[in-house]
Amino acid sequence: MINFDLIVKNATLPDGRCGMDILCKDGFISDIGLNIDAKANQVIDAEGYLVSPPFIDPHFHMDATLSLGTPRLNISGTLLEGIELWGELKPVQSIDDIIKRALKYCDLAISMGIGAIRSHVDICDDELKGVEALLEVRKTVAPYLDLQLVAFPQDGLFRSSSAVGNLNRALDMGVEIVGGIPHFERTMDDGTESVRYLCELAAKRGLMVDMHCDESDDPMSRHIEALAYHTKRLGLQGMVTGSHLTSMHSMDNYYVSKLIPLIAESEVHVIPNPLINIMLQGRHDTFPKRRGLTRVSELKEAGVTIGFGSDCMMDPWYSLGKADMLEVAAMGLHVGQLSSRAEMKWCFDAVTVNSAKIMGLEHYELQKNGRANMVLLQARNKIEAVRLKANRLLVIRDGKLIAQNDPVTTKLFMGGRPNLLNPADYETS
Ligand code: FE2
Repeated sequence: MINFDLIVKNATLPDGRCGMDILCKDGFISDIGLNIDAKANQVIDAEGYLVSPPFIDPHFHMDATLSLGTPRLNISGTLLEGIELWGELKPVQSIDDIIKRALKYCDLAISMGIGAIRSHVDICDDELKGVEALLEVRKTVAPYLDLQLVAFPQDGLFRSSSAVGNLNRALDMGVEIVGGIPHFERTMDDGTESVRYLCELAAKRGLMVDMHCDESDDPMSRHIEALAYHTKRLGLQGMVTGSHLTSMHSMDNYYVSKLIPLIAESEVHVIPNPLINIMLQGRHDTFPKRRGLTRVSELKEAGVTIGFGSDCMMDPWYSLGKADMLEVAAMGLHVGQLSSRAEMKWCFDAVTVNSAKIMGLEHYELQKNGRANMVLLQARNKIEAVRLKANRLLVIRDGKLIAQNDPVTTKLFMGGRPNLLNPADYETS
């Protein structure tokens, strides 16, 4: 009889199936079903709690994380002051500083059940310190976390004089995705031209594209239109992502009725970043004040793949965050008013399966021959997980336990009432 590495008993799966056993060997799932009779070196009783594949963060800036307050705080709270501030930090930070901060963040992310991160890395630094640092970090964390890197011209591909050369150097060094920031170029025309250049570069090198795109409140910003156009023209369907697209929130409805089918047709994926979008956008408004999240429901209805990203934690743009993709999902749910049962479940998908698809992760889902990567949550289903921002009881990678959190319970000292409160006991369906 084969001795397996791990069996997780009595799990509830994201699709709602209960009482399931998950059998693992050599880093993969050998079987998944009811009452599996097998011997394993480690047996975990999930006690009916939700077992999910790991959380996926498809949009982050690991070179800037945990730099909050260095050299100063962002007083206006705007994207533009954040870029200015980051520009002050870049020349004075060392490769070691970036590595230390990034590894500290990765520890937290792993403990929060994140299994893969796509991080943009700023290439507008002629020494490419961020690139050197994150390539090293990618290697170090590989047994625990998949890290994808995007060559990101933070100061503008054409606006920054050495960005084109630096971006190509970064790709030569092993950064695997082409990034951009067309709305930050000097003119709308330069922005459009940068989209063309970057898509052609990606097509030539056979790489994916993930561009910060129309991250503004400008209703006339049109770079997502160019991104969809060049994606289709170059046959890059399914390989291109538009991150943020906040300007779509402010665009004219008639124009959007033409734009969304173009995005869907070109199979461009979309990554809103709800925590950051609600924090940074609408800063020039008095009232009514715009929310700044892209049109999630409408894009979803059109069949566009949407994943939510966290974008930032304790950096020049955002002072908060705790690597909690369920917090990201909950914010997306609220700002996007995604309150039906189906939509709330979808918000969980936006930080798991949808983002895995956008990143092109293989063998991601919990099924036979899938990777034995999973998170045991202190929640009974997807909606409860989002509502509670549920505790990650166990994090499993390649069939091995890599992080554990004690169950969250509260002792109550009130006569005649239950004395132990478990937040997951309020589940209703
Ligand atoms: Fe970003």
